[in-house]
Amino acid sequence: VKCIYIDPPFNTAQTFANYEDNLEHSVWLTMMRDRLLHLRDLLSEDGSIWVHLDHVENHRMRALLDEVFGSGNFVAEFAWQKRTSKSNDADVSISHDTISCYSKNRAIIRKTFNKIPFTANFINPDNDPRGPWKTAPFAAPGHRPNMEYPITLPSGRVVRPPAGRCWPRPLEGYEALLEDGRIWFGPKGDAAPQVKRFESEIESTVVPDTFWSADSVGSTTSAKKEIQALFPGVEAFSTPKPERLLERIIHIATNPGDVVLDVFAGSGTTAAVAQKMGRRWVTCELVEETFNRFTRPRLEKVVNNEDQGGITLQKEERADAAEDGLPEGLTPEEAQKFTSLLNKTIKNDDELKKNPAVKQLKTMTKTTSVKGVVNWRGGGGFRVAHLEPACFSYDPEVALTTLTELATGELLVRSVAAQLRFALTPKDFHFDGKRGREHLVVVEGVLDEEKVGEVMAHLPEGHSALFAATVVDDSARKHVRSFKNGSRVVHVPLEIFPYSDTAEEEK
Ligand SMILES: C[S@@+](CC[C@H](N)C(=O)[O-])C[C@H]1O[C@@H](n2cnc3c(N)ncnc32)[C@H](O)[C@@H]1O
Repeated sequence: VKCIYIDPPFNTAQTFANYEDNLEHSVWLTMMRDRLLHLRDLLSEDGSIWVHLDHVENHRMRALLDEVFGSGNFVAEFAWQKRTSKSNDADVSISHDTISCYSKNRAIIRKTFNKIPFTANFINPDNDPRGPWKTAPFAAPGHRPNMEYPITLPSGRVVRPPAGRCWPRPLEGYEALLEDGRIWFGPKGDAAPQVKRFESEIESTVVPDTFWSADSVGSTTSAKKEIQALFPGVEAFSTPKPERLLERIIHIATNPGDVVLDVFAGSGTTAAVAQKMGRRWVTCELVEETFNRFTRPRLEKVVNNEDQGGITLQKEERADAAEDGLPEGLTPEEAQKFTSLLNKTIKNDDELKKNPAVKQLKTMTKTTSVKGVVNWRGGGGFRVAHLEPACFSYDPEVALTTLTELATGELLVRSVAAQLRFALTPKDFHFDGKRGREHLVVVEGVLDEEKVGEVMAHLPEGHSALFAATVVDDSARKHVRSFKNGSRVVHVPLEIFPYSDTAEEEK
């Protein structure tokens, strides 16, 4: 598995109502450690695990993750802005969740993580043939006498570096940039110098930073809307995560074809996004009703191209098209709204329409539309497996596997057959399963001579029997061997875990 994302429940009030506070954390941590140890074994050398929690349990989880994955394999703790509104009835309004990322091997992850697209508004108000650009400050910290020369702006005004700073280059350097048309003084030629940085010369991807805004990856509100759009009229799943959040994680940690795992599926966001991004995935959900109402139908919709929400479509967007860039703090959406309201207001006033100030407001807030993209058109599929109740329980302290109370009847037969890779043969009166020319017989209790004799009498010519019995003694083994037809005996569970044909044959 290349990437594991988990968003485990921490349902204090309901799940742990009977525990005292400290015990409750300890019970939860033990439950998590059991799972993390298995997850670590499933992770590939170049894999990473992303654990999503809020402030309640995150610090304890970090200590646990240090223990299980090694503190040296800590990658980063990301803050996801889950809400932009404030809850004024609380003493403190919590606006973020935490996603802790650990690698199996920190040195490898350094080289394999993907960068994320760099989003900046590039403009080209001076029709520079080198294409769109954005500005960066022409200033550096500190004092250096040879870098504090006066600069005469095109407007004639003379400027010096801002207080406490100097120019970033000596005079010749500045003149070279100026000559090359790389210095920008604003549209009126009266602004302090800025350096032009061209889109074509800047890397188009950047490493992720640790603050993930609701604007860039969605919020709990947008996640709920995604689920409501998929299941109209149904009471929404209570804790879904937005698709764009998972898109970012899966993008950073994996490439198409890689395996993504989420063992706390909920509404199935991780699997849905992994599917849409061409990744393979495995997901698990404990609560049957959640699985039937949300996880499974959602993934069916994804495969059948009946899910047009989430990351399926990259919506048409507004983008900055103002000559100087939009005024600071104004989003393209706000600017568009502003111009549309302005237009409405002056619709019947020809004087105002010609007014230079009004015209200037329009130029300052100009935006353009960026075409939408279809990222997903359905396809692929998945298989559903139901876990049986456990028949076997492994105790690592004594390195022994024992039978659970449930290990009896049909369930025991199915478990043994699955473990030994036999196909079940429910219609066969004498045998429980078949694998090539070998027939499985599961025996609860003692395997005695009478039972062996009965089975052997029904064994087809050239076939053999595998007796899987919960009580085995030497005389039974001897008796089976005496038939000299390749039949053998295994003890359940001791000789099933681990089971190997060669080890069995060597006996
Ligand atoms: C916080 S939700 C996950 C939400 C998910 N990230 C989404 O976007 O919809 C946690 C889920 O884990 C499930 N769960 C709890 N304990 C589990 C366990 N031991 N194994 C598998 N799933 C479990 C819960 O039923 C719940 O659906």
